[in-house]
Amino acid sequence: MTHPEPGTTSLDQLAHVGGVRLYGPRFQQNPTQMYREMRAEHGPVAPVLLEGDLPAWLVLGYREVHYVTANPQIFGRDSRRWNAWDRVPADWAPLPYVAYQPSAVFTEGEEHRWRGGALHEALAGVDHFELRTQVEQIADELIDTFSGRGQADLMAEYALPLPLLAISRLYGMPESDAPELVRDVMASGDSGDEAVRAHERVAERIRKLVAEKRGRPGADLPSRLLAHRVGFSDEEVERDLFLCMGAAQLTTADWTGNTVRLMLTDERFALTLSGHRRSIGQALSEVLWEETPTQNFIGRWATRDTQLAGRIIRKGELVVLGLAAANTDPYVRPNSYADAVGNQAYMSFSHGEHGCPYSAREIAESIVETAVEVLLDRLPDMELAVSLDALVWRPSVWMRGLIALPVCFTPT
Ligand code: HEM
Repeated sequence: MTHPEPGTTSLDQLAHVGGVRLYGPRFQQNPTQMYREMRAEHGPVAPVLLEGDLPAWLVLGYREVHYVTANPQIFGRDSRRWNAWDRVPADWAPLPYVAYQPSAVFTEGEEHRWRGGALHEALAGVDHFELRTQVEQIADELIDTFSGRGQADLMAEYALPLPLLAISRLYGMPESDAPELVRDVMASGDSGDEAVRAHERVAERIRKLVAEKRGRPGADLPSRLLAHRVGFSDEEVERDLFLCMGAAQLTTADWTGNTVRLMLTDERFALTLSGHRRSIGQALSEVLWEETPTQNFIGRWATRDTQLAGRIIRKGELVVLGLAAANTDPYVRPNSYADAVGNQAYMSFSHGEHGCPYSAREIAESIVETAVEVLLDRLPDMELAVSLDALVWRPSVWMRGLIALPVCFTPT
């Protein structure tokens, strides 16, 4: 992989001696415990080694994540300034998310303000009443495919395809194209030649869509971006549509899966005889505090030598945002989640000018809330088909989501 500005390896090796390996099975089942131990040993900013033993800093403190994300002039978003590019293996798993691309995500300063601002405005144009109606229909159709069976894997059959189907509506794609899009996006996440071909098919579909919308605009996201006063090229719109699709897919799927898991396994959410139970909205918020989909996020790169919580961070070093760790920082939640009930100050969507746009957060919430509502409404006696301990988390330090969520219910 070539990068226009590869930088030099000016790494402070000593700082990373004893760095915590941010990968492996210990992370998979109990990341919260790992963050607690790291915080006790290293404080709010810990030296870590990412897969491939690439050095980085993990920011575990709430105040420190806030500081990093609020100061883009010191902690920049353009990954080309990473001083360790020469050690990154070509098959490094996070590469597709970290390698520089000309999408809004990697732009900075003035360019990001107009590019990101346009994206926010285009997403804000979504009609939430219509979106919720469409998600109800999508949810109903997905449930129809397994409701007669009495059992289902809610990740593969519901939570994973649903966000993409919703996004394809926001993009004004023909409904008949949606199943193929879902298949290709899922396949492009695997490895091998078929994954590359699937990725190319998705790119080609988005190219075609943008060309169609340029000729015949509609009430959809691509048309709003194309018509924006900044005057995007077709290629820029394609990039940002790709970006939104990727940003929405697994995050929204895991938010759905983790919420359903919580509601099925925690008695505070069970329907009591008196009809009282905690609401779906409360479950959505608790998941963002306790099991947030984006656990750790790559990242930011120091634009100059600087200090963070007493650590010296050298120019070009990688800073990983420990969003899940920040959410459980004893500084913001001294006792437990009880301190955070009703509070939306979680770091789950990050913060600052590169944080998940507010309009995107609202879209995600409409999708997840509707998806969970329809599910509970259609399958009211649904329960876990395995014990809670048998649920397996995906082996990732980046995303928190289940590999499968097997449930059973009375066939309808
Ligand atoms: C409809 C669904 C969603 C869309 C369209 C969306 C869109 C985006 C976009 C465009 C960005 C890049 C912002 C920029 O760099 O200017 C972003 C960043 C991000 N999003 Fe979302 N998002 C969605 C759902 C979610 C969900 C459900 C979560 C987690 C709960 C999430 C967490 C994040 C995080 C952590 C970032 C990185 C922010 C940073 O670099 O500081 N997003 N999202």
